[in-house]
Formats: sequence, C-alpha cells, structure tokens
Amino acid sequence: MKDCVELLLEWYQEHKRLLPWRVDKDPYHVWISEIMLQQTRIEAVLSYYQRFMKSLPSIQALSEISEDELLKLWEGLGYYSRARNLKKAACIIIDQYHGVFPSTYSDILGLPGIGEYTAGAIASICFQQKEVAVDGNVMRVYCRVMDHDINIKDLKVKKQIANSLKKILPENSGDYNQAIMELGEVICIPSGIPKCHICPLQYHCKAHLNGREALIPRKIQKNEKLEEEYTVFLLKWKQKYAIRKRESGLLKNLWEFPNQTGFFTYEEVKKLYPNCNHIELGITNTHIFTHKKWFMNSYYVEIPFPLDDYLWVSLEEIASTYAIPTAFMPFYQYLKEK
Ligand code: ADE
Ligand code: SF4
Repeated sequence: MKDCVELLLEWYQEHKRLLPWRVDKDPYHVWISEIMLQQTRIEAVLSYYQRFMKSLPSIQALSEISEDELLKLWEGLGYYSRARNLKKAACIIIDQYHGVFPSTYSDILGLPGIGEYTAGAIASICFQQKEVAVDGNVMRVYCRVMDHDINIKDLKVKKQIANSLKKILPENSGDYNQAIMELGEVICIPSGIPKCHICPLQYHCKAHLNGREALIPRKIQKNEKLEEEYTVFLLKWKQKYAIRKRESGLLKNLWEFPNQTGFFTYEEVKKLYPNCNHIELGITNTHIFTHKKWFMNSYYVEIPFPLDDYLWVSLEEIASTYAIPTAFMPFYQYLKEK
C-alpha cells in the first residue's frame, strides 16, 4: 500500500471532482457535506448541500434554526437524528468554542453526531492533521490492494486498517484520505466490476494481479430485516388533508399521514369512517430502513368534517412547511397527482 501513496495523490490531483466544499475547505462546509455523504451519493447530495447552505450559511444560523425548519431542510435525506445532532453540535460550537470550529481531532470527535470517520475527515481536510478517515470505500480499496479476504463489517478489521493506513499517511493527509475515498467511489466501485484498466494502482494491486478483484470484499449475509405492515389513511376534507406529528420512535417529530399497523380491508376502513363520502384504494409503498422494512397500503377517504386529532393542511403547506419522511412521500405525490 505504501507504493500507492504517490500514485493516489497524483491521480487525485488530476481527476478530483470539483465540489463546493472542496474549494474553501471551511470546516462548516466539510462537516455538513460529510454528514450528508454518509447516507447519499455525491450526485444527489449536491442540491441538498446547496439548499442547506443557502438557508444556513453559518454555524450561528444552524444553531438558531427551529427543529421543524431544520427537518424540512433535511427532508429526503433520511436518518433525521443526524440533522438533530448537527444543530446540537452547532450550539456547542457557539457556546463552548466561541463560534469557531474546533481544530483538534479529539475536540471534533467530542461533538454530537461525529464519529471517528467524520472527525478524521474534518481534522485532515481542514486542519492538516495526520488522521485517517476510514469509510466503506477506503476499506474496500485497501482490502483489494492487499488481496485481504476479510470481513469488512467487523469493527476490529476497521481498526486494523486504520492503524495500517496511519503508518503510511503523507503530509497532505486530507488529499490522501479523499483520494482513496474517491477512487473507491468512481473506479474501485462496490457493485459490478471495478474499473481496473483505468486505475492508477493496477500494477500494484494484489487482488487485480491475482485476478481476484471481483471476489473482494467477501459478501457477508445481511441480517434479516424486521418486516412491518401499515395502512395509511389519506383523509381529505374540502381541499385539506390530515397529517399528524410522530410523537416517538423512528422518525420522531416528523409529519405523517394517519396510519395504523396491519393491512385493512375496504369494509374495515368503512367502519372506521362511517360518515365518509367516498373511499377508494390508494397506492402501495415499500420502504426499507436500516433494520426495518415497511409494507404500506393506503386508502383515499373523503370526509364531510375535519377530525380533531389531526392537523388539516393543503398540499402546498405540506410542500413548504411540514417535513414528510421519505417513507410517506409517495402518498403525498399520489395526492398531488390525483
Ligand atoms: N465521500 C465522502 N466524503 C468524501 C470526500 N471528502 N471525498 C471523496 N469522497 C467522499
Ligand atoms: Fe480496485 Fe482494480 Fe484498482 Fe485494484 S486495480 S484498486 S481492484 S480498481
């Protein structure tokens, strides 16, 4: 791997993508981009990032935003606890660091929502500290170059890789960390066949020299996901629709269409809303979370008066003000197109 350091840096200089947070290396910009990139591909992150920075150009602005507005800005990115942690961390930076982003690895690691990877990325990219940032891309590239057939989901393996990489880290650690990540994203890709014929490491990579690049990393069976069934009620009164705030659990404080566990029949829905003017079967949706899978059916129900338990809002108000989690978005789209 040591032989690869210079090759990677040269390749990165020539091929790196021009990304807004790479231009100024401002820790606020790098931080937000790294958190967004943990769950979404770069191409998709760009527009979210730009919208976020337009609304919240500074750490001060982030620390002052209301939770509802913040969740609305984060809408579509998923993993909403990450958005909440951003605000918590911003408040700590304002209160404890006088608004200046901390510059040491251990101080950065102490902020809510920042783990070893993100702390290493910010410390190396923004503050030239000799820290590694090991994500899935880095582990995959490393294991292929070394032809290591190990389980990269194992935390001990991650530690070993971090230790080995730390020993060969060059002065410009930020560029080096980003070079490996980027190679993993565009050339040494996770699914499909890696593009070894255009890879700067092709004459040093043991897996490629041994013809084993497609076998590494070894595929480990994922845990079965917990499956749950829901019926979603798309209640319409005049030009308004019922939504409610989730009080607890997954997606807490986000807004959803009323729903109950289990699949309801037409007759059961009729019993639930005996005075309704009209019922019809709506669309279905399947949503996959990290540990859960939701199967969702829906009914569109027109009712003659508003029910007290819900907030009644127009589709325009949903679009502008209420953060609807991705799991419920197809139902919003359905109502919009209806
Ligand atoms: N993926 C996540 N963060 C990255 C970065 N800073 N550079 C390249 N790819 C990334
Ligand atoms: Fe990955 Fe192929 Fe490059 Fe090896 S030669 S690092 S397997 S793209």
